[in-house]
Amino acid sequence: MGKLAITGGPKAVERDMMQPWPVYDERDKKALLAVLESRKWGRSGYDYYSHPESKLWAFEKAFAEFHDGKFALSVSTGTTALETCLRVLGVEAGCEVIVPAFTYIASASCVLVCNGVPIFADVDPRNYCIDPKAVEAAITPRTRAVVAVDFGGMPCDTDALGEICRKHGIALVSDCAHAHGGQWRGRGVGSHADMAAFSCMPGKVLPIGEGAIVMTNTEELYQKAFRYHHAGRERGEESMDFTWPATTIRMSEFEAAIGLVAITRLEEQAETRWSNLRYLAEGLEDIPGLSGLEIDERVTRWNPFRWHFKFISEEFDGIHRDVFRRALIAEGVPCGIGPTKPLYTFSMFASGKWGETGCPIRCPLYNSDIDYTKVRCPEAERVHESEALDLTHRILLGPRENMDLILDAMRKIRENVDELRTL
Ligand SMILES: Cc1ncc(COP(=O)(O)O)c(C=O)c1O
Repeated sequence: MGKLAITGGPKAVERDMMQPWPVYDERDKKALLAVLESRKWGRSGYDYYSHPESKLWAFEKAFAEFHDGKFALSVSTGTTALETCLRVLGVEAGCEVIVPAFTYIASASCVLVCNGVPIFADVDPRNYCIDPKAVEAAITPRTRAVVAVDFGGMPCDTDALGEICRKHGIALVSDCAHAHGGQWRGRGVGSHADMAAFSCMPGKVLPIGEGAIVMTNTEELYQKAFRYHHAGRERGEESMDFTWPATTIRMSEFEAAIGLVAITRLEEQAETRWSNLRYLAEGLEDIPGLSGLEIDERVTRWNPFRWHFKFISEEFDGIHRDVFRRALIAEGVPCGIGPTKPLYTFSMFASGKWGETGCPIRCPLYNSDIDYTKVRCPEAERVHESEALDLTHRILLGPRENMDLILDAMRKIRENVDELRTL
């Protein structure tokens, strides 16, 4: 029997590190009941333009204000929010959209849904977000947009990405599904892009049930997004003319009511996580083989959906990241790998077939023979296979003493690394 929990010793952490999530209290219950009793449950089916208590308008306004955006539109999911952005920006057959090599599938599948072709760009190993240099290298005359994910909530370098996009006349879409409450240069994430999409599904840092927000500073894009989410109808007094083949992805008043309460908690939660993550990163400085990501000085707040940190095997006596992770979990600290496999390795891309016709790749409007099995993004592959680790936002929401316990568990493993050699 060794000292480490994985070799039969006592656990470093006995308490549950996961804070309850989503959070709710009496205010949420009251808000839900009020919608129920109002009999106004959604945007359609009553005169919602003049409905003074509409929670949807109020939530959209509060969300945009919180994130320094001008216009916000509620939709059904983060996936459909991304699709809305791309449709509004004119992505269609024949277009390419540059996306990061690792992210959730929706950041890339939204391109296929619009009949466009996703082009994968490598990540920057300093912050695990899409690398602006890789983006610039991937631009072709067919590029219509870049989807940049604030991965784990880390704000991307939207200065560099914005400059590249402006230079090439293409649009920047921020996928902020992980990043609500974060700030780049003192302004809310998403507000630096042409359009942004925020998922509010239950696991995210602003959970409302299911739902999402599309945000933009451009009225024309907002109006078009509204039309897209409302079956192709103009915003205004209910028009029965359908002007655009679109879809119906409206959010309900119930979710907006929950969202209005949830957003009042966001500032404090974001501050707690931001402070805890800096404390943990500072603690890692004394543990050889572990390190925080580089935080650019323009990141004025990272509200981590996932706090990613690095495992450097050469500095950890050559132990593999996965052995360390198993040991940390055994000590009582739930720890994930974070980045997915690069998306181009998923069978959806590897097969290169989405239907009988071979569209959008072999469609006459694109007519190329991209083979995703030949795509290589070495940094994303390396980070996924051997470097990245993460703790969820639910852990980062805990009290400071929990952060000390986490660091103690990590030090314990470092000091007893010999016990891991035979695992
Ligand atoms: C980076 C990213 N983008 C988009 C989405 C899609 O959000 P939703 O699940 O609400 O469709 C997610 C959800 O997990 C995500 O992690």
